[in-house]
This record gives sequence, structure tokens and C-alpha cells, in this order.
Amino acid sequence: MDSLLFFSSNSPVQEVIIPEVSDAGIQLYIKRDDLLHPGISGNKWRKLKYNIIDLKSSGKDGIITLGGAFSNHLHAVAVAGDHFGFHTIGIVRGEKPATLSTTLQSCEELGMKLYYITRSEYKKKLKSKEISDLINFHPNLVYIPEGGENEFAKRGCEEILTDLDFKPDYVCVACGTGTTLAGMLNTENLKSKIIGFPVLKGADKSLIENIESGLKVEQLKSAYQLISDYHFGGYAKFTDELLNFIINFEKSSQIPVEQVYTGKMMYGIIDLAKKGFFKKGSKILAIHTGGMQGRLPAL
Ligand SMILES: Cc1ncc(COP(=O)(O)O)c(C=O)c1O
Repeated sequence: MDSLLFFSSNSPVQEVIIPEVSDAGIQLYIKRDDLLHPGISGNKWRKLKYNIIDLKSSGKDGIITLGGAFSNHLHAVAVAGDHFGFHTIGIVRGEKPATLSTTLQSCEELGMKLYYITRSEYKKKLKSKEISDLINFHPNLVYIPEGGENEFAKRGCEEILTDLDFKPDYVCVACGTGTTLAGMLNTENLKSKIIGFPVLKGADKSLIENIESGLKVEQLKSAYQLISDYHFGGYAKFTDELLNFIINFEKSSQIPVEQVYTGKMMYGIIDLAKKGFFKKGSKILAIHTGGMQGRLPAL
């Protein structure tokens, strides 16, 4: 395995000048985790790092995992398998479509073997006989849950804020399972408030459970806040307003984002800044969690 490339996990921080944000007396920075690797981008890099190190030492020869037809996680596992030379199997939610999504096409090209499971069966996850059979039939592969949500992933996300040379007042991140936010909450000597922007609608209860179940100290519960007003209808849903925002944001910042996670977070940050949510004089650090393979081609 190409370990040198793998262990370089510092990403640059860029200041972004957006007039509405500067007018509110706030400095906005973006941590470009999307630049960590062209294919294993953003929080996928963080989440897979210790999983792959574990795979190396376990003597097993690949990963079996789950995901939807547009899953960044599935795609990142396929890229990692291709890059580091291990087998990958993806269990995909839903029947095989007549035309594969670009994500699934790319997974296949990268050598990932795909199995399709009906949505009702997929929902049961490990309680599904079909899914558990597939996993049991491949004892040589390590199982990683959907979205890469496990303890190794959290551990990788604990490293996101460790190389900063300033202390942001707020750290902002888009949330799916909350694993990335939970990892950052465990940063030693955390001085920032972490603001999470859920991209799913109505899933805050399980998100909070997941975030709070792995905290190293109970008091960290007060170090984060979820702002659930920027999901734009739910997971992978978007509006023209969001797409127009992304186009304008990219023009002024020269930083590409996408419509599922990072675009929603940036919209939320700028809207909240305009509304006076952040203390005047504060520094905000937004985490670019990647996901660019899922960016709408029309954007
Ligand atoms: C690009 C991107 N950003 C953010 C997230 C949310 O991460 P988490 O599920 O750890 O909350 C994901 C999903 O893993 C993602 O693919």
C-alpha cells in the first residue's frame, strides 16, 4: 500500500471574502479537506484512514460496505480499493437501474463488485438475511457500515482540527450521520463551538444519539449545536435557490461545492451571518467535507 500518500492528512485553510459576511464583522475560512485526495475526498479520507490501516493489519483482503446509488462513501471505498490494491464489494440500495448512476458506473470501473438489494430489504441493514448472507459469504472482507459510520471513522475525524494554526470561534460542518461532527467534538482542548447543518429532514433525533453516544466527556454536549433549517427538503433534494447560491458562491470564492452537503452548509453559514447569529468579530471555520463526485453536472 502507498502509505506515504495515505498518511499526509493536513489540508490547507483558505480565507473566503463574502461581502455579506465581512459586513457582519466576521472572518470566514474553509478547511479544504476536499483537496486531501482527488478520489477519497474530504471526510471520506478521514473516515477510511483507520479502517484501511486496520485492514492492512487484519490480514483480510478487502472491504464490503453499503450505500445508495449516489453514495460518496461507496465511491470512496471503490477508489481506495483501486488505489491501495484491495477487493471491494458494494451492497447497493434498490433494484439495479436500467442506466447506472455515474457513481455506480465509476465504482464498477474501479473494480468494485456491486450487489443490488430492494429498498425494503436494505432498510433492515444487518438484520436482512440477504445482506448478512452476503457479508458472511465473504469472510475475507472487512465490513464497514453505510456512510462509513464506525469507531475508526470517528477516530479519523478527531484529527480534522488538530493542525490548525488559529482557534476558530465556530467550526461548521454538514451532517449526515453526525460521525464527522462527533469526531471533531472529541478534539483535545476544543475551544470552538461546532455548528452542524443536517442535510436530512426530520432525522435529528438519531443524529443527536449518534453524536452524543461517542463523546469522551459529557460536557461536550454543550459544545455543539444543530441548525436544521437548511436541508432544502431533505437528503439530496435541492431548489433553484440553492443551485443559484452555489453558482454565485463558487464565482466569488473560486471554491467548488456541491448540492448535497457543502452547498447547503455554505448557504446556512452565510444566511446565519446575515441574520446576526455569529458574534461580531468572530472567526468561522467551515469544513469542506468533499463529495465532489456527486456534484450535479449541470452546476
Ligand atoms: C461530502 C459529505 N459531507 C458531509 C457528510 C456528512 O458526514 P457524516 O455522515 O459524518 O455526518 C457526508 C457523508 O458522509 C459527505 O459525503
